[in-house]
Amino acid sequence: MAKGSQGNVVNLALVGCGGIAGAHLRGYEELWGRGERRFRIVATVDEVPERAKAYAERIRAFTGEAVNAYKGLDDLLGGETRLDGADICSPHGLHHVHGCQLLNHGVNILVEKPIGVTVKATKKIIEAAKKNRRIAATAEQCRRSIGQRTIRWALHESGLMGDPRFWFAISAGWNDPQQVPNWHWRVDRYLGGCGMIMDSGAHWVDSMRYFYGEVDTVYARVEQVEKRPHKKGKETVLDTREDFWTSIFNFKSGVIGTWAWTNSAPGKGFTQLTFNSSKGALVDSDIFHPAASQARGECQLADGVTYSMSRLQEMYLKTLNKKEKDRLFPYGITAGMSLELWDFIDALSTGRNVEIDAPEGLRSKSVSEAIYESGRTGQVVKVADVLSGKCDAYQRDIDRYWKL
Ligand SMILES: NC(=O)c1ccc[n+]([C@@H]2O[C@H](COP(=O)([O-])OP(=O)(O)OC[C@H]3O[C@@H](n4cnc5c(N)ncnc54)[C@H](O)[C@@H]3O)[C@@H](O)[C@H]2O)c1
Repeated sequence: MAKGSQGNVVNLALVGCGGIAGAHLRGYEELWGRGERRFRIVATVDEVPERAKAYAERIRAFTGEAVNAYKGLDDLLGGETRLDGADICSPHGLHHVHGCQLLNHGVNILVEKPIGVTVKATKKIIEAAKKNRRIAATAEQCRRSIGQRTIRWALHESGLMGDPRFWFAISAGWNDPQQVPNWHWRVDRYLGGCGMIMDSGAHWVDSMRYFYGEVDTVYARVEQVEKRPHKKGKETVLDTREDFWTSIFNFKSGVIGTWAWTNSAPGKGFTQLTFNSSKGALVDSDIFHPAASQARGECQLADGVTYSMSRLQEMYLKTLNKKEKDRLFPYGITAGMSLELWDFIDALSTGRNVEIDAPEGLRSKSVSEAIYESGRTGQVVKVADVLSGKCDAYQRDIDRYWKL
């Protein structure tokens, strides 16, 4: 690690140059633009070489420094001898494969959600990090955003809302299966490992723990109502993912949550997210990443007073001293993704741990898996039994596929 004027400079590689990696690049560009110079992105990797090259060029355009493009991890590890960290944005099933190979070469990792494709896959990442004394971080941006930090403050510290009681997150919509899309890795059970419960849902399970603490038990119905064909070359491949779930969460605090989603409800749809406390409600219209990138919601109290989300954010910011602001929103940045990248860079540069490490990512991920396990068994499932590996009926064939 080289020493720069601001501290140790970390050399990073971007692994997987698809959709979310593009958003990560915008985050790195924001950090660079604000004057953060403790990182270099020295390499990009994608099995499609043009993607790795295109992202290398995008990075060069904002840093002015050359970036090497590789088509696989063996090439990366053979070509780069001074790599400190890797930002893994590959398909779910490859997170533990890529993560463990990098950790075993002494490279710290930041892994997109869900941190591993199954509980066992995540534990493999955690063990490799421990063995090699490296950081394995979960790339979870939502709870870091000013919107979600504000919701937690409003629920527990503002004194506005009273005691938390329950929450409802429900969305019903229609995606016509007769419109046949192209195949994508998410459709495949072994590469994707999940549907929306653990894809976009990975964010919400992390946020619900951030807002309300640990979940004790879950009961869920998880169904595939429509058959959804996809075009894969000349073949037609059916989607393996759920298109309906409804679920009830019993938090250790006594709070009760209800989460339901479908894209198989023709006709008029609706979406509603409401957090109910003893003195009022907070509402938003995104059941996966509420308030994480917009301030549409509001707080409605029983006495008739309402606060817009942006007003609540101003009130929350006023409660923070400079040290807290610099820790939570360095450079005045309030967007979760730039903050998640900054956390990784700052942790590597200063030698501290990250906010959401792999064990913390696993605790959130286990809530998603508990929904699947309950759907598979028809039983109320204890999240602790999913975390320990005792309850794994839904995940077993994926573990077998990846030899876990
Ligand atoms: N944080 C968020 O808000 C958010 C949003 C979307 C996706 N994600 C996560 O990001 C990850 C990637 O999702 P995406 O939507 O960007 O997918 P994507 O398909 O757009 O990108 C994945 C990339 O990985 C590459 N790839 C596949 N196999 C590879 C291999 N063996 N070696 C190197 N590269 C390989 C693909 O060619 C592709 O460019 C997933 O974990 C997903 O859940 C996070």
